[in-house]
Amino acid sequence: MFSRSASRSVVSSLRSFQAPVRHYNSAFGSSTPTSAFAGKKGSDGNYTVTLIPGDGIGPEIAQSVKEIFAAAKAPIKWEEVDVTPILKDGKTVIPDDAVTSIKKNTVALKGPLATPIGKGHVSLNLTLRRTFSLFANVRPCVSIQGYKTAYDNVNTVLIRENTEGEYSGIEHEIVDGVVQSIKLITREASERVARYAFHYASENGRNKVTAVHKANIMKMSDGMFLTACRAVAKEYPNISYDEDLLDRVCLRIATDPTPFADRVMVMPNLYGDILSDLSAGLIGGLGLTPSGNIGRDASIFEAVHGSAPDIEGKGLANPTALLLSSLMMLRHMGLFELADKIEKAALSTIAEGKAITRDLGGKAGTREYTDAILAKLK
Ligand code: NAI
Repeated sequence: MFSRSASRSVVSSLRSFQAPVRHYNSAFGSSTPTSAFAGKKGSDGNYTVTLIPGDGIGPEIAQSVKEIFAAAKAPIKWEEVDVTPILKDGKTVIPDDAVTSIKKNTVALKGPLATPIGKGHVSLNLTLRRTFSLFANVRPCVSIQGYKTAYDNVNTVLIRENTEGEYSGIEHEIVDGVVQSIKLITREASERVARYAFHYASENGRNKVTAVHKANIMKMSDGMFLTACRAVAKEYPNISYDEDLLDRVCLRIATDPTPFADRVMVMPNLYGDILSDLSAGLIGGLGLTPSGNIGRDASIFEAVHGSAPDIEGKGLANPTALLLSSLMMLRHMGLFELADKIEKAALSTIAEGKAITRDLGGKAGTREYTDAILAKLK
């Protein structure tokens, strides 16, 4: 297992951006690594990582990350793939080349993918999650020093079940004007994400796991989620466990996020989607929020925000969220010092406030902001 005690003090407030250790092998109770980074350095001394630039502002922010990695002399060779869906045997699937690349490299960095609302192909993000069994979505939100928001002490980690729940995609019209959407909760997936949450807490110095739910209303589905969490909690006697209602957590976090800095929150799919955006709002918006999709066969790191079609091609996009996601990825790969170095360059650029993007209240575009970070890495 990785230990980063040597570099732990360097940017202590950023501890939450650490990705979980590799060779975590207990999610299925087996000895098989379930979120392993299995990539090996090539003969050129580089790791190959799949890059999905994505839609909208995706290619612009991916370009920033590539330039920053090059300046930091990161031992990463990008393998760019296109995930535009294709139809195969009547199903919408990801092109074989992309699947093969991610499977081979076991790690990918992904830009946002646009999802047409209410029509067209199934969400590609959902397809990726299912294709690679990306069972846990880790979303840390940490206040960025020097960037003033309502609170300067936000340090939350939310882990969202990523494969089922309200995102099962099982919907049908029973009779004209009556539609049913099924929220699917299984004990297996609930236990898997709960175990990961406890593991993450124990590896990242957090002493509590809070299961966030609406079991007062969804007694059976969220009830099963809680039953699974309680069972897993018994395996981690050193981590305390409690439960809270989603609505109450929203109110409490918005009122005072401080008590949430000691714990990991774990919850079904949709709740995590909403609560993580609420947390992102507390640290200055989606432009600053990274995430990691931890999977059985591969892990995919991505910004929480979408393709931002309103600013596409205007050179205004803030690449920080994708950059912080790429740093979670580096830590997942065990490249802690490199991640710290890039993080310091990016966060000190924001703290100085001279070259920050408009979403953070500055006047800089993607180019000026990226250049300011590059200058610190030279
Ligand atoms: P969005 O996150 O793309 O945009 C919301 C607002 O935040 C916009 O005003 C946008 O300009 C701004 N914004 C987002 N990222 C920014 C950045 N890096 N720098 C500066 N400003 C930024 O959400 P929206 O508009 O609801 O979704 C657009 C598309 O993205 C949709 O097709 C949606 O399905 C997709 N999407 C994809 C995600 C993914 O691939 N993981 C996640 C969320 C949405």
